[in-house]
Amino acid sequence: MVKFTVIGGDSSEDLARKIARSLKAPYVKTENRVFPDGESKITIKKIPRNNIILVVQSTYPPVDTNLLHLLSVISKARKYSSKIYAIIPYMGYARQDREFLEGEVISISVIGKLLRAVGTRKIITVDIHSNIALRELKIPSENITAITELVKYFKKKKLTNPLIVSPDLGGKQRAIKFANLMGIESIALKKHRDRKTGVVNIVTSKVNVKERDLILVDDMISTGGSIIRSTQFLKKQKCKRVFVACTHALLVNNAENRIKKAGVTEIISTNTIPKKTSKVNVAKIIADAVL
Ligand code: R5P
Repeated sequence: MVKFTVIGGDSSEDLARKIARSLKAPYVKTENRVFPDGESKITIKKIPRNNIILVVQSTYPPVDTNLLHLLSVISKARKYSSKIYAIIPYMGYARQDREFLEGEVISISVIGKLLRAVGTRKIITVDIHSNIALRELKIPSENITAITELVKYFKKKKLTNPLIVSPDLGGKQRAIKFANLMGIESIALKKHRDRKTGVVNIVTSKVNVKERDLILVDDMISTGGSIIRSTQFLKKQKCKRVFVACTHALLVNNAENRIKKAGVTEIISTNTIPKKTSKVNVAKIIADAVL
């Protein structure tokens, strides 16, 4: 029988413990001491040998600190096993998967090089932003989806004539999948983002959502711009309530309050990023993917 050891990085301790419980595997904690100059001293004691080691660490803000922590833990774990799997539930930098403007660095490909250099054998992510990002890592990888778990949450809700809405065309397939599992319909809005300023606008001019409860589905919320603009547009179209379902809620720059102010009734995210909104647990689907 395959034996696993789970090491929980700083950013994903609670989720890592849950994954270990699900796998009935030993859990190893990391200790992190931060020096006055900002450097980290990471210590990991008593790592069992000869197991597949799962290092669990999401790379949400502070992104670079959490990334270095991940690389350091993998590098240490590599001394105890040749089979190191990096479980990166939220993979930061995945939106930097191509050269959108001339001269831009494809950061996700740099991260792939770093992960390979420290000895990562396999990567498991949850709803990574794009398949291009996954390919750029150039490490055997598996991307699992939390949509099934988010749908379970929403199936328990009493909704009025619900409709799934994607805030942009890029998320159309995600919305279709969500809607099919809910047994309802979906639409996708057309969004424009200025690549220099980051400002988002909804280009779609009219949709028929009157008196309907809507679920806005996205892979991630960062500044909240996409969700806020979509909600403002949908409210103008006289919809009923707007719920938000997303896998990764970064919610930077007071995004949660601004989204609520725009008229969203509830934001539901998963524990790939620990937040108040993380009401859906992905430990079981990650453990199942590992087995
Ligand atoms: C974009 O393609 C993504 O799927 C998200 O819609 C986007 O990254 C969310 O960012 P923000 O919350 O800053 O609009």
